Amino acid sequence: MKPTRVAILGATGLVGQRVIDILAERHFPLAEIRLLATSRSAGTEMLAGGRKVTVEEVSDESFSGLDLCFFAASAGASRHYAPLAVRQGAVVIDKSSAFRMDADVPLVVPEVNSHHLGAHKGIVCSPNCSTIQLVVALKPLDVAFGLRRVLAATYQSVSGTGRDAVDELIAQSRDILDGKRARPEVYPRQIAFNVIPQIDEFSGGYTSEEWKMVNETRKILDRPDLGISATCVRVPVLVGHCEAVLVETERPASPEEIADVLSASPSIKVVRDEADYPVPLDSAGSDHVLVGRIRRDVSGKNAFWLWIVADNLRKGAATNAVQIAEALGKLGLLGGIA
Ligand SMILES: NC(=O)c1ccc[n+]([C@@H]2O[C@H](COP(=O)([O-])OP(=O)(O)OC[C@H]3O[C@@H](n4cnc5c(N)ncnc54)[C@H](OP(=O)(O)O)[C@@H]3O)[C@@H](O)[C@H]2O)c1
Repeated sequence: MKPTRVAILGATGLVGQRVIDILAERHFPLAEIRLLATSRSAGTEMLAGGRKVTVEEVSDESFSGLDLCFFAASAGASRHYAPLAVRQGAVVIDKSSAFRMDADVPLVVPEVNSHHLGAHKGIVCSPNCSTIQLVVALKPLDVAFGLRRVLAATYQSVSGTGRDAVDELIAQSRDILDGKRARPEVYPRQIAFNVIPQIDEFSGGYTSEEWKMVNETRKILDRPDLGISATCVRVPVLVGHCEAVLVETERPASPEEIADVLSASPSIKVVRDEADYPVPLDSAGSDHVLVGRIRRDVSGKNAFWLWIVADNLRKGAATNAVQIAEALGKLGLLGGIA
């Protein structure tokens, strides 16, 4: 890949900071790196691309002379700045939910659907964190056995909400241990020593996080017909999302065959020993999707349970975004289309 002029919008956030780290870890060839955020953190110095870089306040003119922008800010910021960045000649890889379901915007997990990248018109979206780890496991099963139905219950860490939520969990935990009352601000209920079966707003009996898992999975897998439903739950864990997933297959399978198919994916680590199940702490810092507790469902035909765990900030966000950039580079699709 030729050296690339890169900006990160939201560079001071949890995902933006991971993007900086992962670009370095994967030796992504940088000609320039620009760090953008709001006036709140403009002027901060951060290590990026092997040198100190000063964070700039984003403006409509921030994107000229760039090849590639990682957007890891809010959906509102993406809606405003992504079209401007594309017009100024950059390709945008967006981590927010702003454009994910737009028909002409690819929503990509490279090992699952990099064939969608060719259709990009300047913006490529990276899916929601809980969707990414799910589709990494579902894709090989769909190819091998055909998926009929997927039911998921998630156990999602607070870093999935961003740095304010991490601070809230730590502050509430301290307060409660000190005998004080918890003061919920980021979440609707106390998160310390609790679980909350609501992630984002309700719509039609489900939350928007649950709809993301349904709609994004169908789009990524090219399976608009897939039977899929989810319950998404926030748990007092700092990093790492877990999912208990029931899959029903069209063709007969066994737990061993499912483990074999998943093991063949370089992105997945299968834990075959039932007592050695993966937990969030195992996933933190890893780019693998960990799958354990693969077992036959006792109540259904061709139905199996999986326990899927991944680092939401890495494979669920930053690593996936950098992998999209690498895939675009390999396909010669990084030049802006302005
Ligand atoms: N966390 C995850 O696991 C995860 C997974 C998948 C997708 N995402 C998505 O990734 C994005 C970033 O999430 P995060 O967890 O990193 O959030 P975060 O820790 O709260 O960081 C937010 C970042 O965005 C910047 N920002 C906020 N509003 C902005 C605006 N209007 N203009 C420019 N910059 C703005 C902040 O800058 P300041 O420092 O100036 O405030 C900060 O750098 C979100 O869209 C989120 O939905 C997150």
